Amino acid sequence: MSKHSFSLLFASIFLLSACSNDSSNSTNALDATSEIETSVLSDRSIKVGIDYHSQSNPEQVLVTHVSLDLTVDFESKTLSGTAELEYNKQNPSADTLILDTKELTINRISNDQGELSFTLDNDGSILGSALRISLPETGNKVLINYTTSPQASGVQWLTPAQTAGGEHPFLFTQAQATHARSFIPLQDSPQVRVTYDATIRTPKDLIAVMSASNDPNAERDGVYEFNMPQAIPSYLIALAVGDLQFKAMGERTGVYAESYILDAAAAEFADTESMLIATEERYGPYSWDRYDLLILPPSFPFGGMENPRLSFITPTVIAGDKSLVSLIAHELAHSWSGNTVTNATWRDLWLNEGFTTYLTYRIMEIVYGTDRYNMEAVLGYQDLEADIERLDSSDQILAIDLRGRDPDDVFSNIPYEKGALFLREIEHAVGRDNFDRFLTEYFKKYAFKSITTDQFITHLSSTLLVEHSDKLNIERVNQWIFEAGIPENAPMPESDAFSLVDTARSNFLDGSLVASDIETNNWTVHQWLYFLNNMPEKLSVENLTSLDESFSLTTSKNNEIAHSWLLISVRNWYEPALPRLYEYLTTIGRNKLVKPLYRELSLTEKGKELGRKAFAQAKPGYHPLTVKANEGFVE
Ligand code: BES
Ligand code: ZN
Repeated sequence: MSKHSFSLLFASIFLLSACSNDSSNSTNALDATSEIETSVLSDRSIKVGIDYHSQSNPEQVLVTHVSLDLTVDFESKTLSGTAELEYNKQNPSADTLILDTKELTINRISNDQGELSFTLDNDGSILGSALRISLPETGNKVLINYTTSPQASGVQWLTPAQTAGGEHPFLFTQAQATHARSFIPLQDSPQVRVTYDATIRTPKDLIAVMSASNDPNAERDGVYEFNMPQAIPSYLIALAVGDLQFKAMGERTGVYAESYILDAAAAEFADTESMLIATEERYGPYSWDRYDLLILPPSFPFGGMENPRLSFITPTVIAGDKSLVSLIAHELAHSWSGNTVTNATWRDLWLNEGFTTYLTYRIMEIVYGTDRYNMEAVLGYQDLEADIERLDSSDQILAIDLRGRDPDDVFSNIPYEKGALFLREIEHAVGRDNFDRFLTEYFKKYAFKSITTDQFITHLSSTLLVEHSDKLNIERVNQWIFEAGIPENAPMPESDAFSLVDTARSNFLDGSLVASDIETNNWTVHQWLYFLNNMPEKLSVENLTSLDESFSLTTSKNNEIAHSWLLISVRNWYEPALPRLYEYLTTIGRNKLVKPLYRELSLTEKGKELGRKAFAQAKPGYHPLTVKANEGFVE
């Protein structure tokens, strides 16, 4: 992948300005109106179920279907065309539909009776600009003619030179958490679910794919039709356009990728179908028909994104040995936890990510065995410990207070690993089969609904907490959800395969074992990560050199191992690894892999200088989110 360095693209900077806390502007938990009351256990002023990250008014007028007709223009880096929204007045006398938009140009709004008047607020905050459309008394559709900005926060436009093939441009969207509004005017709240259809017009040599029904055999004629008949939250609407090929992996699974990586991706992710079957057997039927993967360019800012029917996946996990495929288990698991049962607000993100992380471990155990499950659980636990060390206590709370904050800025392992650990504790208390049954029923009961943390607690209180009152209690549940840190006596993952790594590391560090004598032939990638991640802060140049000479760590092709080694190298300013570090930072845009390196570099003057140089070169090819997350480290 190093050959395909993405050089300069565009970057946009979003300045976080305080957003309004005025709940009258915000959205109600539509399925839980009766539960809109102040949460007792958290800050008394947080209204449970209020979406503080949308200015739309679904409690008055609810959008239920979105119909898109968009033209993709790589020259101007814009999407333009129409969005027709179908709505239902919840309040019969409502006369205004309020939508979220961000950096959109609204050209005209009409319905079948003619033009409709509207106002667009000034863009003043992370929420974007509210679009207020005057509605006639009758009718249930509005047609919005609009154009996106080349700097849209939810869209990345790559020039041909920035793709692997080098000949065709590439476009992809990333809507979670609040970026759908930068490419579609809509009610951008996870508690509003819509069905959608789309006509996407592209240059003739490219194909379009979406989080919807895709036809791998569609004729390349520049016009692609999509339909998503199941109601989904806006953050799951996704589009990609490029020179894509398709390869089937199983009956219901396949992969879309540029041809340079198609076969490698299909081989790496060949177990996707088994994962799908395993998850269905444990947690109930898969609701989304097909499950395909789309491999993005290396600038994709996340590991993966669970866009329904078509997960978006970074190429950085294609390691050649399936060592990093838990990412696929994770995005697949979201088909149950996240896409079927959805968090109602971004405060409730742990309901998506914690449940999904828990399921990921379980799927990995079924498909790859208990040793792998244990190793991945220990590594996840260590990531959690590191974040708890680093984060303010208010950011260690599962049901986090996000008022006035951009959800992008609060991304951490807390909703993932702390959420999963909480569920693991319940599993241990009630027994695996009972807990699996609980989860299956939970996915069924709340299917195609968006729910709050408080709704989850209410559900838990009337099920497991009653059935197993001798082993579980509400105080403990509240401690997990509303307090900082990891509760005492939480389950502690352990791995036998790591004990021998601990022994090797300590013998190496005390000088009783030289690097070249460490028995590493049978080590898995996870053992390597555990070996490196638990090295002391400071290592001598002799130790670094002998490790590198024995194990060629600087040239490791595994992006996670390279990441761990490069972090050690920055901490200890191990110069032979710095050219590799530079190449790494300028060819990968996945934030989880680059951010810790920029953070570490920012701690010394010479580090900062290197970071600045790499960032300046890479920035035009980084996704807007990666730019925003790292620019503070290179100022
Ligand atoms: N849905 C998330 C990505 C996300 C979360 C985007 C919050 C925006 C806001 C996705 O499923 C995810 O968790 N990705 C992880 C995967 C990892 C935990 C296996 C990632 O990208 O690192
Ligand atoms: Zn996730």
